[in-house]
Amino acid sequence: MARVLITSGPTREAIDPVRFIANASSGRMGRALAAAALALGHTVEVVTGPAEVAPPPGARITRVETARQMLAACERLHPSCDVLIGAAAVCDYRPAAPLAEKRRRDASTWTLELIANPDVLATLGRVKGSRVHVGFALETGPLAGAHARAREKLAEKNLDWIVLNAAETIGGDRGAYWLLARDGSDRALGERTKEELARHLVPLVTARSREA
Ligand code: CTP
Repeated sequence: MARVLITSGPTREAIDPVRFIANASSGRMGRALAAAALALGHTVEVVTGPAEVAPPPGARITRVETARQMLAACERLHPSCDVLIGAAAVCDYRPAAPLAEKRRRDASTWTLELIANPDVLATLGRVKGSRVHVGFALETGPLAGAHARAREKLAEKNLDWIVLNAAETIGGDRGAYWLLARDGSDRALGERTKEELARHLVPLVTARSREA
C-alpha cells in the first residue's frame, strides 16, 4: 500500500488582520482524491488550506492557511510518502507587507504590492526521487494553448502526470478533463464529476508507484 500526500483547497494570504487574498477552490477535488485513495487501502495525508469541505474521515489532516505553511507541511511529510498529488489552488502571490492593524476606510485608493509565493509542487519536484508526482493545470482561454501550457507545467514541476481542467471546474461539481503524461501522451477523459475523476486517477498513479 502507498502513502499518498494530497494538497487541497485554497491558500489564504493576509492583507491585514481581517482581510485576505484567496481563490474559489472548495477542496472538493482534494476530498475526492483522498476518499478514492482511502477506499483502496492507502494511507492518506491531506494538507489543506481553509476549504469549504473537510477531508474524509480516515485521512490524516494538516490544516494550513498560507502557501508558505503548505510548503513547510508538505516538506515535512513528503520524505515518507510515495505519491504526491497537488490539488490545492495555491495563491501564487501574497501581499508584500501585510498590515499589523486593520486599514481604516477613507476616500483614497489603495494599491497592494504582491510578491511571488513558492511553488509547492516545483519545490518538491526537485527532491522527487522515485516518487510519483501528479499536478493539476487550471487554464483559461483556447484549448490548444491550454494543452501547451499544461505540458510546460508538467516539465517545470517535474511531474509524472498533469490533469488539465478548465477554470469553470473550480468550486463546481464536474468538469471536462484531459490527462497528460510525462511520456508525451494526452488523453481526453471527458466530462466527469470530481469523484469519478479521482476514482480513475488514484488507481493509475498508485499502481505506478508500486512499479517504481
Ligand atoms: N501549485 C503549487 N504551488 C503554487 C502554485 C501551483 O503547488 N504556488 C500546483 C497546483 O496545486 C497545481 C499545479 O501546481 O497542481 C498547477 O497550478 P496552476 O495554478 O494551474 O498553475 P501555476 O503553476 O500557478 O501557473 P499559472 O498560474 O501561471 O497558470
